[in-house]
Amino acid sequence: MGRIFSGIQSTGNIHLGNYLGAIRNWVNLQNAHENFFCIVDLHSLTTLPAPGDMRRWTREVAAAYIAAGIDPDTSTIFVQSAVPAHSELAWIFSCLTPLGWLNRMTQFKEKAGKHRDNAYLGLYAYPVLMAADILLYKTTLVPVGEDQKQHLELARDIAGAFNRQYGVDYFTLPDPLILKVAARVMSLRDGTAKMSKSDPSDYSRIHIMDDADTIALKIRKAKTDSGAIAGAAQEMEGRPEALNLLGIYAALSDLSLEDVCRQFEGAEFSALKTQLTEKLIAVLIPIRDKMVSLLKDPDSLDALLNKGAERASALAAHNMREIKEIIGCVTL
Ligand code: AMP
Ligand code: TRP
Repeated sequence: MGRIFSGIQSTGNIHLGNYLGAIRNWVNLQNAHENFFCIVDLHSLTTLPAPGDMRRWTREVAAAYIAAGIDPDTSTIFVQSAVPAHSELAWIFSCLTPLGWLNRMTQFKEKAGKHRDNAYLGLYAYPVLMAADILLYKTTLVPVGEDQKQHLELARDIAGAFNRQYGVDYFTLPDPLILKVAARVMSLRDGTAKMSKSDPSDYSRIHIMDDADTIALKIRKAKTDSGAIAGAAQEMEGRPEALNLLGIYAALSDLSLEDVCRQFEGAEFSALKTQLTEKLIAVLIPIRDKMVSLLKDPDSLDALLNKGAERASALAAHNMREIKEIIGCVTL
């Protein structure tokens, strides 16, 4: 049985891309693996959220995991900052990670923008903390969206660097699991940009907490083009907005993009939009309703997170002790 680790930041605006690219896949994988699903609040600190928002968003992400179908009894759901070994291991890894590796990270380049000197150390070191999250538990499989592929490769490189430096075979190299359908859900306003929590326009994304009317409105306003839908995905090249809507429909219906193109061949976008709205409502509204009820009782949610943190801490502390012995800390 493999071990899974994955996480989402507590930055608010959790959206359809997070659901289709990550959470939904975790739900489907959970019974065949031992699972650690983390709310990576220390990563979200790189956006300097207000403390009250961060607390609220942390619980919101936890509620989303459970409402989407992660079973907190069999999977470990916990908050990253509750297990200090993540930060400790990140420091140890930072002493083994060449700056050249970090300079290649496209997400850092995108987020730091033109004024790289003004970017914070945390944003630069972000992938090192992510490597610590994954490797601390000797994870074998990391289900994520396409945008995390490069960070996963770095985690493998760091595992190798540690093993080589200390002449051990301690860390297992984790494999990414990036599914083909909906690995990269695009903005509803611009088919060349990823759907993201930080896009200033709410119309660019479907929030997991949107109500049915809002979902319908956002899909109605979603950008398309004036052509009809072609019968094959290949013939849709150069039409990113159209492909994105077809891809979302495919993911929600468990069909391939080819099947969906065939199904809608020759149709106007209004027909696709009507059916897509129905599918989105059928999938997301039950999740939203469950989230609302879980968030009404934050004490019970916190109790679940506490139990998760205890389970994660037990393995983390055990492995951290071994790691410290390997690197020469005097462990008492
Ligand atoms: P984040 O919102 O950056 O914390 O991302 C959490 C998870 O959602 C990661 O596995 C991402 O790869 C995934 N994800 C985020 N945005 C998208 C997107 N637009 N399409 C597919 N997966 C995504
Ligand atoms: N960096 C990931 C993201 O933004 C979140 C994350 C942090 C993560 N640690 C992780 C994902 C460990 C998978 C495994 O999407």
